[in-house]
Amino acid sequence: YTAELDLSDIGKGTYPFYMLKEIDEQPTVMRHLISTYADANGKMKVAPEIVESVQKADRIYIIAAGTSYNAGFGAKTMLEELTNTPVELGLASEWGYDMPLLSAHPFFIFLTQSGETADSRQVLVKVNELGLPSLTITNVPGSTLSREATYTLLIGAGPEIAVASTKAYTGQIATLAFLAKAVGEAEGNTKAFEFDLVTELSLVAQSIEATLSEKEKIGEIVAKNLLTTRNAFYIGRKQDYFVAMEASLKLKEISYVQCEGFAAGELKHGTISLIEKGTPVIALISNNEKVALHTRGNVMETVARGASAIIIAEDGASRADDDIIVNAVHPYLSAISMIIPTQLIAYETSFQRGLDVDKPRNLAKAVTVE
Ligand code: G6P
Repeated sequence: YTAELDLSDIGKGTYPFYMLKEIDEQPTVMRHLISTYADANGKMKVAPEIVESVQKADRIYIIAAGTSYNAGFGAKTMLEELTNTPVELGLASEWGYDMPLLSAHPFFIFLTQSGETADSRQVLVKVNELGLPSLTITNVPGSTLSREATYTLLIGAGPEIAVASTKAYTGQIATLAFLAKAVGEAEGNTKAFEFDLVTELSLVAQSIEATLSEKEKIGEIVAKNLLTTRNAFYIGRKQDYFVAMEASLKLKEISYVQCEGFAAGELKHGTISLIEKGTPVIALISNNEKVALHTRGNVMETVARGASAIIIAEDGASRADDDIIVNAVHPYLSAISMIIPTQLIAYETSFQRGLDVDKPRNLAKAVTVE
């Protein structure tokens, strides 16, 4: 699968829905980000003033809503390990009231595809009143949050038209990877120098392409398990738990299946009582030997209670009979590669149910009211 897509093309072409086109554009988005934020020698091209400002921080606060909030989680561990700075996530709609107790030297990152989300802007107004440094990572140049923050980094994913966000999620995580590596290198962090982001992100693009070539198989899995169900679960641990949150949001918003993204080990502490015969439980198992076996154990617990398990595993942690196998990538970037099959599951579920994939009921692309 090597289709080249033009990120500036806002037509749907032969695609039935924008969402599928935007899912397909993700390898291109990754390669585009490489050429935007790395030079020919693989050196980071992130403005030095942004890097210095992050270096001065004792804590990074990521503020966002919806899918962008989940993207913050997808990048959290990488950002912490490479910058040696704790990262706290804040839901924009909650932080717009009274700010919680902040660290002595906070740095705020606003993740927002549109750059127009009112809830996020409300927090930025407060941050500006406090005179604190901020960075907006957005897909829209000149957007409100971009203009009002101290700094901006563009995702450059091309217009995202489907309400359900896909390429902005993966693009945000990749953009944060460039920032994390640039700051880590400036800090002299060995981990940052060892993380060959250009190569690793190219491998991510290839992994995405491999998953995109499994569309038919994913369509069959959906036909078998998700066409009539009213609820479902995504489960995973650590990084996979963060991906489960976004995977379940994607399924909910366009297919109207009630779905919870759950920390696999927490299921048994109450929520497992919801499992009935045929409840789909989709497990995400990336290449982390500490958690993979535990997640498999949790899958068995749900199967023993009648669940229909679907296993999405990364190559290396996978078994021959797993449903979807994702080509392995660097652990810092697994949220990007592991989300792809779940985007396709959401798309197929909505499409096969005959719904308007691009314009789900009750939702807007950018929410400019609080
Ligand atoms: C809306 C959209 C979501 C999006 C969220 C945040 O609710 O329907 O898809 O994730 O806003 O949008 P932003 O533009 O700030 O990323």
